[in-house]
Amino acid sequence: MSLESLRFDRRCARCVACLILLLGISKIVDAQDSSLPRIVQKNDRYALFVDGAPYLMLGAQVNNSSAWPAMLPSVWPAMDYLHVNTVEMPVYWEQMEPRQGHFDFGVVDTLLTQAREHHVHLVLLWFGTWKNGSNHYMPQWMKLDPAHYPNEFSADGKDVDSPSPFAEQTLAADIKAFVALMGHLKDADTRHTVLLVQVENEAGSWQSVRDFSPAAQKMFDAPVPAEALAAMQKQAPTGNAGWKDVFGDDADEFFQVWYVARFIGQVAAAGKAVYPLPMYANASVRDPISPTHPPKYEVGGPNDNVFPLWKAAAPAIDILSPDIYERDPVRYLKLLDLYHRTDNPLFVPETIGQAAYSRFFYAAIGRGAIGFSPFGMDYSRSFTSGVQEALTPTEGFVATSLNYQVFAPMVREIARLNFEGKIQTAVAGEEERAPRAAERQAADSSDETDRVLHLDGWDANISFGTFSRFHRQPTTMPSESNGRILIAQLGENQFLLTGMYSRVKFEPNGPASGKAWQYLRAEEGQYENGAFQPRRILNGDQTDYGLIFAANPAVVKISLYTR
Ligand code: DGJ
Repeated sequence: MSLESLRFDRRCARCVACLILLLGISKIVDAQDSSLPRIVQKNDRYALFVDGAPYLMLGAQVNNSSAWPAMLPSVWPAMDYLHVNTVEMPVYWEQMEPRQGHFDFGVVDTLLTQAREHHVHLVLLWFGTWKNGSNHYMPQWMKLDPAHYPNEFSADGKDVDSPSPFAEQTLAADIKAFVALMGHLKDADTRHTVLLVQVENEAGSWQSVRDFSPAAQKMFDAPVPAEALAAMQKQAPTGNAGWKDVFGDDADEFFQVWYVARFIGQVAAAGKAVYPLPMYANASVRDPISPTHPPKYEVGGPNDNVFPLWKAAAPAIDILSPDIYERDPVRYLKLLDLYHRTDNPLFVPETIGQAAYSRFFYAAIGRGAIGFSPFGMDYSRSFTSGVQEALTPTEGFVATSLNYQVFAPMVREIARLNFEGKIQTAVAGEEERAPRAAERQAADSSDETDRVLHLDGWDANISFGTFSRFHRQPTTMPSESNGRILIAQLGENQFLLTGMYSRVKFEPNGPASGKAWQYLRAEEGQYENGAFQPRRILNGDQTDYGLIFAANPAVVKISLYTR
C-alpha cells in the first residue's frame, strides 16, 4: 500500500468515524428534542412541535383568579364544552413563594394532575414581577420591603404602581422563583403536559413612560449598550452618547423597553437553563395604526415598534405575542400581520372571547399561527368573586366551541399543512370587496365575490353571508356577518375546506383558466386518527351553486377537474 493511499484510507476512516459520531450525536439530539415541546422554523414558517410533530393550540385562558384548586370545578366544564386542547393558567408568585425561599408547588401539581385527567395541555403564565405592569402578584414579603423591591419613580418623583426593571434584588428573587418553578416542572412533568411558559404578564408601565429613579437615570445618561444600537441600526454620535442623544423623542420609551426586556430575558434564560421549554412574552398592544406619541400605552412590553430591541435583549424568549382586545376588525387584522414575522412565530395568547371575534381564529391560522386563545373562558364570574350559579355558555362560548369542535379532530393535519404553507383563510371584513366582472354580476347578482383565494391551479371565489341556492340572504343576525373560510391544498386539484357563513365557487386559473370544470368528488366528513372519513358525497344542489357553509361548520374534501 502506498503512503498516499494509506493517508487516504486514514482520512476516510476519520471521516467515517466523524460521520458515525455525528449521526450518533444527532440521534441523541433528536431523541431529546422530540420529547420536548419546541418551536421549529422552516423558511419563514413556524410550528410548535409536540411529541415530534406540528401541533395547533386550540386554547382558552382562565380568568385571573381561577387557577386555584377551589375554582377548578368551574374551569373544567367550560374547557370540555369549548373543545380546547390547551388551557392557559396562571402561576401566582404570591402563592408559590409565601415565605422567602419556601416554595409550594401544590397548586401547580393540582393543575398538572387535573389537566391530564381532562386530556388537555397547559400553558403556564408566570405572574411574577409584572402582571399588567404592576407588582401585584409579588409575595407579601416583597411588597412590604420596597427598599429592596422598589417600584419605579415617575418624572416628578412619585412612586409608580409598577416594579422597577433596575431593582437587582427583585430580579434575583424572580430568577430564583422562576428557576424553582422550571426545575419542579422538569421533575413533575415528564409527560410534557406543559407546552409553553409565559414569562411575566403584560410587562411594562402605564403611569410613567419610564423609570426615573436615580438608578434608572444613571443608566439613561450612560452610553447606550452596543447591542441596543445594533438592534435599532443606530450609531452613537459620540463615544459616550446617552439614550436621549441617540434616540431623541423615542429615548424614554426605547430605554424602558430595553431594560424591561433585559430583565425578562434573564429570568427566561435562567429558567430555560434548567428546563428548556419554549417561552414567550405578551404585550398589551398599542394602537397598531395610529399609536400615540408620546406613548399613552403600556411601555416596556413587546410592541410592534420595538421588536428588534426585544429580540436582542431577550433572546431566550422564543415568541413575542400580542394580547388582542382590539374591536376594530382592521386593527385586529393589522396586529395579526405585525406579529406574524419571519423572526417571530404568531401566537395569540389572549383575545376577545365574544362571538363577533371568533372568525379571527381563522385569520390567525391563515397567518401561520401556532395557537389562539380567547381570555376569561371559565364559568367563574369575570370581575367579581364567587362562582357563577348557572353554568350557561354565553354566545362567545358557543362560537369558540363551534370553532374548536371542528378543528379538534384534525389539529395535527391542520398544523402540518400550515407548517408546509398549504393553508389559506379568509374572513369577513378582511379585504375590500372585489366585485367580479360586470357581465357575471348582471347574470347573477348574488355572485358578488368578497374575496378570492389564489390556490395552485384554482381560484376560490368567496362570498360571505347566508345563502339559499342562488341568493345571498339579507343579513338578519350579526353572526351572519361573521363569515370565515379555510382552504387547504391537499394535492393536485384536491382541497380541504371548512368554514361558516360563506359560499365558495371554484374556477381554474393559470393555463387551465376559462376551461370547463366539475367536481370529481366532494365529500363531507371529518378526520379520524389521521385519515379523512367521509359521511356523505355532496352533489346536486349541495355543489351546483357553490359550496355553502352555514351556521354549523362542516369539513369538505374535494377533487376538481377540467375538461
Ligand atoms: C390582559 C391581561 O393580560 C389579563 O391577565 C387580564 O387582566 C385581561 N387583560 C383583562 O381582563
